[in-house]
Amino acid sequence: NVRKKIIAGNWKMNKTVSEAKAFVHVLLKELEEYSAADVVICPPFTALQAICDLLSQSSSHVRLGAQNLFPASHGPYTGEISPWMLREFFCHYVIVGHSERRIHLGETDLFINKKVKAALSASLHPILCIGENLEERQQGLWKEKISQQLQIGLKEVEEKQLADCVIAYEPIWAIGTGKNATPEQAQEVHLFIREEISRLFSLQSAQKLRIQYGGSVSPENAQELLLCPDIDGLLIGGASLDVRTFCSIILNST
Ligand code: G3H
Repeated sequence: NVRKKIIAGNWKMNKTVSEAKAFVHVLLKELEEYSAADVVICPPFTALQAICDLLSQSSSHVRLGAQNLFPASHGPYTGEISPWMLREFFCHYVIVGHSERRIHLGETDLFINKKVKAALSASLHPILCIGENLEERQQGLWKEKISQQLQIGLKEVEEKQLADCVIAYEPIWAIGTGKNATPEQAQEVHLFIREEISRLFSLQSAQKLRIQYGGSVSPENAQELLLCPDIDGLLIGGASLDVRTFCSIILNST
């Protein structure tokens, strides 16, 4: 397996600028010289500048990611942030299609596809989140759901651009519930995602693509999830808010 693991913390709507700075000070100390996996933190927009400054003063490999973008370079889109604005803060990654935005803000696969393409055209790496809800899992419909999210979400993405994308499998029933998918359940879906990518693009591209798991990841379950052959990283919500917990996941499982 040549895919380098990628561990990302999605802070969601948490942390003030001063809390974010305090976190990053400790993170940089704990992860000094660490490079076994790619580490990404995704703070709210308001903390990007402060964290960008701290990262630029260090030699760390920690990367910055945003939690969202709007698919246009500029214009009359009140309250929105463009890919180029994120580039100003040296963001490398951007989360796209998180289920919380699909649910609370009504984002559709087509709109998410625009965001994926906008991110790529600004040389940002989109982390495309997909995953079924509890009802779809119970009714055995997760394959259809995931297949559709991939097919529409990656529509018109060129094969060479796929190398810049990360997929995050986040079953909605596992997000913030304390009930993670078992390694067997997650591995089954990750393998399915890779097969779908192989069908949509090529086997070679599918083998290179990194697929993260997200949903109630904790220091207790991170290691066994990462041991699965098709799980190439983690997208961590709650457990990424405490810097010691986040670092222990990184240092103990990669
Ligand atoms: O983006 C992160 C996920 O939504 C997972 O959140 O680790 O709090 O379950 P969680």
